[in-house]
Amino acid sequence: MNEHFGTLPDGTPVHRWTLERAGVRVRVLSYGGIVQSVEVPGRDGRTANVVLGFAELDGYLENPGPYLGALIGRYANRIAGGRFELDGRTYALAPNNGPNSLHGGERGFDQRVWEVTPVEHGLRLTRVSPHGEEGFPGRLAVSATYTLDADGALRIGYEAVSDAPTVVNLTNHTYFNLSGAGSGPAGGHQLRIAAARYTPVDEELIPTGVAEVAGTRFDFRKPRQTGSGYDHNFVLDKGVTAAPEEAAELYDPVSGRVLTVATTEPGLQLYTADHLGAPLSPGAGIALETQHFPDSPNRPEFPSTVLRPGDVFRSETVYAFSARD
Ligand code: BGC
Repeated sequence: MNEHFGTLPDGTPVHRWTLERAGVRVRVLSYGGIVQSVEVPGRDGRTANVVLGFAELDGYLENPGPYLGALIGRYANRIAGGRFELDGRTYALAPNNGPNSLHGGERGFDQRVWEVTPVEHGLRLTRVSPHGEEGFPGRLAVSATYTLDADGALRIGYEAVSDAPTVVNLTNHTYFNLSGAGSGPAGGHQLRIAAARYTPVDEELIPTGVAEVAGTRFDFRKPRQTGSGYDHNFVLDKGVTAAPEEAAELYDPVSGRVLTVATTEPGLQLYTADHLGAPLSPGAGIALETQHFPDSPNRPEFPSTVLRPGDVFRSETVYAFSARD
């Protein structure tokens, strides 16, 4: 089902699509591929929307900074100094986060209108990013397919092809609050991440290497409260996988809701939303961004984000919901 959601200043209409299966209802916008709401039952059977979003298009247009629910590209997370070298050529990107490039640049995939076509139990969003967009080389044809599994899990599959060597890192920037969006801070949730290592960062949030989580506040191998002060990438033990494997579990003791995140990606950014900015309040949600590691284009030792002509970039992430005592 789709309905008119709003109109961009240039006159482009934006639509909202609704997916429903197994008691889960998800709303997706053609603008930014945004997951606007995800309604799931708690242990008491009552349904609540568990992701941060705005009720109207203007909310997203006026507050692009937190990337609420958005599809992020071409490069999710940071590229140091807004530049990288590929095959001996240096590419300069617009720095939009201090000296660094963040989440695709000044106008990333989160601020683009996507072509949406219905598929079985879901939607396929497509867009062609022209050569040179935001400084990235290659004409990149991207698709993101959002489907609901038989158990109501939200599955997002990404594909991309390029006509020239380039780099790509795609994610979804949903913030979860399993007690319900707007119910207060989400810092009381319990989080488990299947990662023995993470990437420590400098003051500009650029990785300085890889370190063990043991004995640090980054050890989420056993569940611990998310609290605040996290904006870090975890090195998932499973590495890059052909099919999604479990990466994290978020549990809300209040509502009993559980979110499990499974992915093919090697990394997971935990962002406790300390700097959401008005009209949102700090810590109102928790972002769990499946991805390749920040600044991979400048870090040959990290799993590669290079995409070459003739190859297909593929990744998949599954957000599954349940409830327990
Ligand atoms: C980044 C944060 C950033 C946020 C944008 C996260 O993915 O890691 O540093 O502030 O996105 O709202």
